[in-house]
Amino acid sequence: MKLKRTNYCTDLNIKDVGKEVVLCGWVQRQRDLGHLIFIDLRDRTGIIQLAFDENTEKEIFKKAFSIRAEFVLWVKGVVRERSAKNENVSTGDIEIEVKELEVLSKSETPPFEIVEDSNVKEDLRLKYRYLDLRRPDVQNKIIERHKIVKLARDYFDENGFIEIETPILIKSTPEGARDYLVPSRVFPGNFFALPQSPQLYKQLTMLAGFDRYMQIARCFRDEDLRADRQPEFTQIDLEMSFVDSDDVMNIAEGFIKKVYKEVLGVEVEKHFLRMPYREAMERFGSDKPDLRFGCEIMNITDELKETEFRVFAGAISNGGSVRCISMKGAAEKIPRKEIDKLTKWIQDYGAKGLAWTKVNLDGTSSSSYEKFLTEKEIDQIRKKAAVEVGDIIFIVASEDNQVVLESLGALRCELANKLNIIDKDKWCFLWVTEFPLFEYDKDQERYVAKHHPFTSPREEDIEKLETNPYDICANAYDLVLNGNEIGGGSIRISDPNLQKKMFKALGFSEEESQKRFGFLIDAFKYGAPPHGGMAFGLDRLVMLMLGGNSIRDVIAFPKVASSAELMTESPGTIDESQLEELKISLNK
Ligand code: AMO
Repeated sequence: MKLKRTNYCTDLNIKDVGKEVVLCGWVQRQRDLGHLIFIDLRDRTGIIQLAFDENTEKEIFKKAFSIRAEFVLWVKGVVRERSAKNENVSTGDIEIEVKELEVLSKSETPPFEIVEDSNVKEDLRLKYRYLDLRRPDVQNKIIERHKIVKLARDYFDENGFIEIETPILIKSTPEGARDYLVPSRVFPGNFFALPQSPQLYKQLTMLAGFDRYMQIARCFRDEDLRADRQPEFTQIDLEMSFVDSDDVMNIAEGFIKKVYKEVLGVEVEKHFLRMPYREAMERFGSDKPDLRFGCEIMNITDELKETEFRVFAGAISNGGSVRCISMKGAAEKIPRKEIDKLTKWIQDYGAKGLAWTKVNLDGTSSSSYEKFLTEKEIDQIRKKAAVEVGDIIFIVASEDNQVVLESLGALRCELANKLNIIDKDKWCFLWVTEFPLFEYDKDQERYVAKHHPFTSPREEDIEKLETNPYDICANAYDLVLNGNEIGGGSIRISDPNLQKKMFKALGFSEEESQKRFGFLIDAFKYGAPPHGGMAFGLDRLVMLMLGGNSIRDVIAFPKVASSAELMTESPGTIDESQLEELKISLNK
């Protein structure tokens, strides 16, 4: 029987010279120098050089000659010092003098070379994801993810949390996104849904008395994908009894501190900043503001309340506002053509236009709107924007304040990226608090829960639930990192009467809420502890910690933007007999 592997490639170093070892791995490359053959052998730890020379047994030398990239090898040999050292690899001082060699598996020429930082198109990489995952930089992200998950389990265990698995086949309950549905064979015409999160079940673990729950939970949401969204993703999900929001936030901060320290060696600040939702929107035009740079939004509505310039006056008289951002040092770097492009770009955010003033370095200025304003108005705007030579002021006016704020918020980030003013080594954590409990959904033409229907109003707002429900704040909090929402949670409603009022404010009749959430309403009748919790978006956290741009990079087998999985070509059709069994006919 063949000897078992004794070491990983990079376990070995100069101290091991003379040692007999057995290694297994993939061929990174084979170099044939005629009388010498070198093979770089790769395993998940890295690379080591195998050497074949005049002392190598003839048969083995011949075998080495025919070996190609990505063959799988079993090798027995002796560690020796290299004559030509390679400082670029950790095993560069040594090589393996091969004594025995077996090809465990051959490989066809792969569709792309297995190297770090290759420029291969993502679609091709994902079609052959098992090859893509052999690339050390890609593989490393998955290994780091494992460490982060392990730290999460350890941290929450140390803090008294119990990991409880909750079902994947559940009743369809609304949580904001569209459900993925699974037809039932036993109950034709009935469907399970895949959980958008374990929200209701984790609350039920509190009612069941577990006191502190956690789960590395897979969640499913059928929504349009973006770089930070996948149809199935993972949460570090937690719930706690007899707590207030500070307790949940403290536990969450403790986890972030631990994971940053242990994975990145970074000490994060003691208490994360907190900012009410309203303030985040007013200052940064976003409920997940990136605080690594300034360029805050300024309201110049007062300065323009008497203006005769139609664009600004119209927005103000229709209940809207005029606001601006001032970009330091942008005049030199953003040419006129670029501003024209931005004017088109910002329309995606609902803004009808973008007004601007460029204060050139020579003191002259050009502007799209100043000719329509009085000297006094121009002065006041420039003063408020604290504009200096070399800056550009960008202004958006609209009768819809949300449009003004969100478009300037997006522009702020776009320009900061273009101007390269973001410090990539900064970690700006922020709790956004005091979210509105409800938000108006323009498509559905009704109010919906901003988080989910089980989120409690703030204590001081509970009374308003019957009189003025759409003007109250939730006892909810989102965790934001460098402009990304990496977590969110709330204190829940634990009083069945309050929950009933909530359903009523959401427009559910008593009958409808009983039908949808009867099990939960009933559960609350048997002694419900006050409770709250949150969930971290694991994929986003890992992506940001490892410096990626897409969560696809930190998911072993991700889906592409169309929600398809390229490797297995799913979703796919199913057999007629499977449909029949489910009593489903397709409306082709
Ligand atoms: P929420 O919907 O805010 O809260 O989700 C929590 C966190 O999960 C991440 N996330 C996603 N990550 C990748 N792809 C997606 N499609 C996706 N959607 C969300 C985000 C987000 O902050 N049940 C509540 C939590 C609670 O109240 O305890 C919930 O799911 O980082």
